[in-house]
Amino acid sequence: MGKWFSRLYDPAMAPLEKHFLHELRERLVGKAYGNVLEIGSGTGLNFPIYKQVEKVVAIEPNLFMREKSLLRAKGAEVQIEVVAGDAGNLPFANDVFDTAICTLVICTVPDPNQVLQELRRVVKPGGVVLFIEHVRFTGSGLGHLQDWLTPLWRHLCDGCYLNRNTLDLVKSAGFKVIHIERFIRGLVLHMEVINRK
Ligand SMILES: C[S@@+](CC[C@H](N)C(=O)[O-])C[C@H]1O[C@@H](n2cnc3c(N)ncnc32)[C@H](O)[C@@H]1O
Repeated sequence: MGKWFSRLYDPAMAPLEKHFLHELRERLVGKAYGNVLEIGSGTGLNFPIYKQVEKVVAIEPNLFMREKSLLRAKGAEVQIEVVAGDAGNLPFANDVFDTAICTLVICTVPDPNQVLQELRRVVKPGGVVLFIEHVRFTGSGLGHLQDWLTPLWRHLCDGCYLNRNTLDLVKSAGFKVIHIERFIRGLVLHMEVINRK
């Protein structure tokens, strides 16, 4: 499954990237600074966008995704190290990263609370975490449709939940939301949060 998903990921995402996602990635990644952690880097779609950061460490558990990430890391303008691992159990000391990047990952990880607590731990006090995530619609029947579709969607899309309340999870984890934009009637969030400690 992981192999097919990794093969299909870039072509499947291409229309969305062209329509709005790549531009959103550019705006998000443009805010990164210093020592950067990217979790669930997938095929490395963010890598060509990094410009003025010290270094990026990207963690990706799926071997086939990681292989694609590694190719994109080679062509990047900044130093990018791609490592195997689980964002729920990060192999880093406390307070080492200035920025963490998380694009379309909280929807997929098995335990989002654990991942958010790990980000709280490894990002420096006052550091930023930058998210692009698709989330459950609020206040509409569309949310129920997402609940209904999620079992099939998870099966087809490598464990991805269509119906996570990521904004609530991020706030409950203790992050302070300083910027949020909503797209497609609130389906996609672009968020910048500060790590208060
Ligand atoms: C939908 S893809 C997003 C990839 C990339 N971030 C992007 O923006 O295109 C979700 C990624 O999260 C990764 N992932 C799943 N569980 C993870 C975990 N526990 N820790 C880190 N990454 C994980 C998957 O392997 C996959 O590459």
